[in-house]
Amino acid sequence: MINKNKMTKALSLTAGLLFSTSAFSTTWNVAVGDGGGSTQEALGIKFGELLTEKTSGKFKTQIFVNGQLGSEQDTVNDVALESLPFSIIASNNLAPFSPAVGLLSLPYIFENLDQTVQMINSPVAQDLNQRTIQDTGTRIVGWAYSGFRVLSNSKHPVKNLADLSDIIVRVPKNEIMIDTYKSWGNNPTPMAWSETFTALQQGVVDGQDNPYMTIYAMKFGEVQKYISDIHYLFSLEPMIMSESLFQKQDDATKAAILSAGKEATEYSLQWLKDRESKIKDELVNQYGMKIDAIEDEKEWVKKAQDAVWPKFYESVGGKDKVNALLKVLGRPLI
Ligand code: MLT
Repeated sequence: MINKNKMTKALSLTAGLLFSTSAFSTTWNVAVGDGGGSTQEALGIKFGELLTEKTSGKFKTQIFVNGQLGSEQDTVNDVALESLPFSIIASNNLAPFSPAVGLLSLPYIFENLDQTVQMINSPVAQDLNQRTIQDTGTRIVGWAYSGFRVLSNSKHPVKNLADLSDIIVRVPKNEIMIDTYKSWGNNPTPMAWSETFTALQQGVVDGQDNPYMTIYAMKFGEVQKYISDIHYLFSLEPMIMSESLFQKQDDATKAAILSAGKEATEYSLQWLKDRESKIKDELVNQYGMKIDAIEDEKEWVKKAQDAVWPKFYESVGGKDKVNALLKVLGRPLI
């Protein structure tokens, strides 16, 4: 699944970025796709604090926000190659390399926040991690909870499917998300996350979707006016670590990494709960954004689920994997 050309490029571009050592400690770099103040950054900071504490200062981390170490999808290659120790990215940007993770991008699979917590604490998450290690050479050590994705745009309010037809929407390079927009009669523009702000600013695209927290952290209010609460996906953002680097550590360090990741994940959940509704208000008060609900939501759900789910059963690992998740979420099986 990992692109060999990108591997070579990543090796040459990131040589020397892996870590720095002093007489007493090693500092591991952490790439973060989102800006400062994001859920990704909060997870990364907490993880670093916990790791340092649990290893009595033997390991530290240094965070690079805003895609400074490369686009989210490129960092997957870098982590696989061990030229970057950690990256925190959206699951939709891991899925092209680890198709199993596509399960989390099936439109409307999560109905509420509690279900995402059930998934993270279930054998389904462990299975996703095992398959990600096999397919990508990266290990998921923690998760950021970022919230349900909403659609933003600069053109006009989108309250129903007809309103969506003339909006040029940037989507991640993720087949499930591309097909979801197509099922709604829209022809989206796939684009790297790192290029999105400029594309919105220059009018190359009119809109994009991401959680409220991300829209705020990325300052999209400066270039976007309307938000539609489409909540078709919940953004879970894995913190991935190079599996080869993990395997080189002694047992105590491995245990410290895993428990720091688990505790940082729990912290991330509370961090989101404490902030999301205030941030939603900030988007209105600080930027004058206008937030609308969707009037014909049943149509959005039906079109996306009818067209997209069956098409991707095989790539996410089969209907059994979808049913295993639905069971954890307390939803009827398919
Ligand atoms: C994307 O839209 O590419 C990602 O979901 C953005 C993110 O990492 O927050």
